[in-house]
Amino acid sequence: MTSSPLANLGAQKAELLSLIASLSTLDGLREAEPTIIGKRSILTALQKSLGSLEPEARREGGALLQEVRRDVETALAERRAALSLAARAESLEADRLDLGDVVVSAVLVPASQGHPNLVATTQRELEDVFVGMGFTVADGPEVESDWYNFEALNIPPAHPARGLWDTFYVDLGEPETVVLRTHTSPTQIHLMEAAVAQKSLPLHSVMPGRCYRRDTPDSSHLATFHQIEGLVVDRGITFADLAGVIETFTRAYFGADIASRLRPGFFPFTEPSAEFEITCTICRGDGCRTCSQTGWLELGGSGMLDPAVLEAVGIDGVEWSGFAFGFGIDRCAQMRHQIGDMRALIENDVRFLRQFT
Ligand code: PHE
Repeated sequence: MTSSPLANLGAQKAELLSLIASLSTLDGLREAEPTIIGKRSILTALQKSLGSLEPEARREGGALLQEVRRDVETALAERRAALSLAARAESLEADRLDLGDVVVSAVLVPASQGHPNLVATTQRELEDVFVGMGFTVADGPEVESDWYNFEALNIPPAHPARGLWDTFYVDLGEPETVVLRTHTSPTQIHLMEAAVAQKSLPLHSVMPGRCYRRDTPDSSHLATFHQIEGLVVDRGITFADLAGVIETFTRAYFGADIASRLRPGFFPFTEPSAEFEITCTICRGDGCRTCSQTGWLELGGSGMLDPAVLEAVGIDGVEWSGFAFGFGIDRCAQMRHQIGDMRALIENDVRFLRQFT
């Protein structure tokens, strides 16, 4: 009688399990795997030998063998998991820094943060000064019709004064010509029209904003620049009120040693009109190249509201009077910070811009 090929299966299984338990590295396990359950394994050999058995015995033997294989496979998988966990712990230990008392730290590079451009900061500061004097702040459109930029301001078509405020004309084929505003004065008209419509006079407002001119940029001019307009419409307003507001503003913004003066000038929308000048901020009045040895720098224009303007917006010039002024915000920034070339304000050179955080 030939003995069953599975006669030693119990001992063979025990041997395989103890071999698996003795594996101590993942590499060793990988190497031993084919001889444990692979092609070269005893289990595979026994599987083949079943072919010589009677069908009944073959079926029984096959089931038995299958059970042993499953147990061996499970033991192998568990051993692999244990070994890889150990390998990972080992590599973490190897990476640990043993520096004794030394504190390991990382330097965080701060994220760079932007800041408003000097022109925007200057605009806020100017608004603050005027708000402190009792003015409100108003906004107006940058794209205007010919009426607001010129005609309502007493500058009729083809009047030579238009040359002072030459701009970009946009012909949209509409009844009215559209222009990029050349000054903030058109906002005066919007405010006065609204105040008349709402019967809300008097008016004490400043109107900052961007303006455009057909100018070639140089050290003190930009084709796109900023102005702040002032407007007062009230009862009994005189030229002394205008001069007082200008002087108070000048000292508040530029400092106690900078004074203002009004020099006769001409603007179609004010009468009388005056150029608004301040002590030269470079030489403090002694006379230098910047102020052409005069000791004074021109900042803007001003004057009493022209009756033609009051009439254009429907304000009774007998009951109401007022004044207006307008000057460059970029120019204020230039004078206060003694910036040699105004174009630096729009060139976006961070070495310049960073000085005004
Ligand atoms: N709008 C004028 C300019 O741009 C300045 C000005 C404003 C003059 C208000 C008088 C009154 O030059």
